[in-house]
Amino acid sequence: MSEVKVGIIGYGYWGPNLTRNFYEIPSASLVAIADSSDDRLKQAASKYPHVTVKHDYRELFELGLDAVVVATPPLTHYRIAKDCLEHNLHVLVEKPITLKSEDAKALVELADSRGLTLMVGHTFVYNSAVRALKNYIDSGELGEIYYLDTARLNLGLFQRDSNVLWDLAPHDISILLYLLGKKPVSISAQGTASVFKGIHDVAYLNMTFPNNVPAYIHVSWLDPCKVRRITVVGSKKMAVYNDIEAEHKIKIYDKGVDAPPPYTDGDFGEFQCSYRSGDITIPNIRFAEPLRQECQHFVDSILNHTVPVSSGTDGLEVVRIIEAAQYSMLNGQTQEVLKW
Ligand SMILES: NC(=O)c1ccc[n+]([C@@H]2O[C@H](COP(=O)([O-])OP(=O)(O)OC[C@H]3O[C@@H](n4cnc5c(N)ncnc54)[C@H](O)[C@@H]3O)[C@@H](O)[C@H]2O)c1
Repeated sequence: MSEVKVGIIGYGYWGPNLTRNFYEIPSASLVAIADSSDDRLKQAASKYPHVTVKHDYRELFELGLDAVVVATPPLTHYRIAKDCLEHNLHVLVEKPITLKSEDAKALVELADSRGLTLMVGHTFVYNSAVRALKNYIDSGELGEIYYLDTARLNLGLFQRDSNVLWDLAPHDISILLYLLGKKPVSISAQGTASVFKGIHDVAYLNMTFPNNVPAYIHVSWLDPCKVRRITVVGSKKMAVYNDIEAEHKIKIYDKGVDAPPPYTDGDFGEFQCSYRSGDITIPNIRFAEPLRQECQHFVDSILNHTVPVSSGTDGLEVVRIIEAAQYSMLNGQTQEVLKW
């Protein structure tokens, strides 16, 4: 196979972005688009007149495709992805891969048993800024990592079939797992359902990674300001990735604090920290559209028979973490231990 024949399932808000990318990738051929909505199909047909459009995604099984992309609401991911894998298609599923870890596990096992590529759309692990941030951590330039903090806030978009945890936290959790190359050992969460009863629109997650490295995630559909920020605080330097910035997305602050030697009783007046505040470095990051990188990676993984960076197993891990967070959030912020 030198070219992957692709079908898109779900042409709502995100599907058109995926479609455009697969249309433009030379080693992919966009063959068909399925959406259960008439309006969305009309839009797809006018934009891509030479591409087959279908109401029922199962009609794509007759078209000799190699792969599909599932960009439907999360509640439908498991059923559609399973059906497609059973028809021997490689599958890229949007995040979250499923809404239950047992379903994600079943998809991973099904893909493995058939030698098919199963990938999840954790777009940020294909983002040049996130990759640069990982290099700063791995190279030791930031020093020992004290903690990480992420904020993903906005007004909307409210979802009907999932809460803010399932909608936004997959981004931050997948980023943290990628940055640290480790899985958390425990998690607790709290949140509020302000607008719709039972649908949490604000959540705070508190995770602990190996070596007692904490990470804090704040996600919200109910905030006046759009914030997309990740802060990594190390013993030597601190890094901030601000995705809202058009150009200077990452800033490295040569800032820190050195604690004084331990004081003895009666010595408290001597307690003085020494603060460092040096240069701010703005690395020049060559920015390529992360979604384009993700789509190309899916095609390459199929053609080269390699495991994707955001594999089905990565999708499963994120779902397990969100499940634990959701349990904690609904049961008085319990501390959930994650066993891997
Ligand atoms: N990676 C990212 O940055 C990113 C960004 C936005 C959304 N997403 C994900 O993309 C997925 C879709 O989100 P969205 O915002 O586009 O949702 P959406 O509701 O705007 O679009 C979903 C589309 O799927 C169609 N659909 C529903 N059930 C179907 C079925 N059984 N068969 C065929 N079509 C069906 C709907 O008609 C709709 O057009 C979600 O999983 C979401 O989390 C990812």
